[in-house]
Amino acid sequence: MNNCVIECRNLETAYTASLHRPILNGISCQIKQGEFVVLLGLNGAGKSTLLRSLVGLVPLAKGEIHINGISVTPRTLPQIRRDVSMLFQGGGLIRQLSAVDNVLCGRLGMRTTWQTLFGFPKRDRHLAMDLLAQLGLKEQADQKTSQLSGGQQQRVAIARALIQSPQILLADEPITGLDVVACQQVMETLSELHTQQGMTIVTVLHDLGIAAKYGQRAIVLDAGRIVYDGLCENLQAQFAKC
Ligand SMILES: Nc1ncnc2c1ncn2[C@@H]1O[C@H](COP(=O)(O)OP(=O)(O)OP(=O)(O)O)[C@@H](O)[C@H]1O
Ligand SMILES: [Mg+2]
Repeated sequence: MNNCVIECRNLETAYTASLHRPILNGISCQIKQGEFVVLLGLNGAGKSTLLRSLVGLVPLAKGEIHINGISVTPRTLPQIRRDVSMLFQGGGLIRQLSAVDNVLCGRLGMRTTWQTLFGFPKRDRHLAMDLLAQLGLKEQADQKTSQLSGGQQQRVAIARALIQSPQILLADEPITGLDVVACQQVMETLSELHTQQGMTIVTVLHDLGIAAKYGQRAIVLDAGRIVYDGLCENLQAQFAKC
């Protein structure tokens, strides 16, 4: 399928004794260019593990992942990570750095050590400032991220993911712990990236209402397997089966 940007074939991690099964236990799915997919499931279902596996952070015992038709292997990872940005659960920011410096960290994979030895090029800094301004954080750009609110930190993390202009954005619980206003801002940002730039988005959410409002398609995981893959309708019923 030529417009399929993510393809997972029978993903299986090693047997995990504490679970009496592999964490991912036979996952197959295809995600097309420009789709907005929400990944749902109870705590421990394997959502974060699945997202992390797409960028080569999880050793697989079986199966294969293709991103844009390229098999994810240690050799292809640098190339894959230029196309795919990941927003980690909890943000993963460096607390001592300012917001703008955290955003610039998203650029490290595209610059050589020499290019950043004496600081980032001016145009990268401008780009980082523009992204923060677009996300409503112009005033906070030079503030340490440890001094920002949870919602502001999440938006810094989004700016960091976006500075590499990814084609695919993977977001692990981008709104968990945020207030209603911040939640809405973050979801609207993801929605704009999807509608205006045609970005492919896969995001883990726990709120079924928000999933139904923004998602085009839902994938529900339970105990390392996909138990539902389809429209974001009547999601409550899918959970009753978990
Ligand atoms: N490195 C690891 N070693 C052993 N078990 C692990 C490891 N990483 C995750 N697990 C287990 O795998 C299962 C799936 O974890 P994962 O973080 O993918 O769940 P999740 O669906 O993202 O859950 P949550 O909604 O709580 O974020 C959990 O039971 C977890 O304890
Ligand atoms: Mg998780």
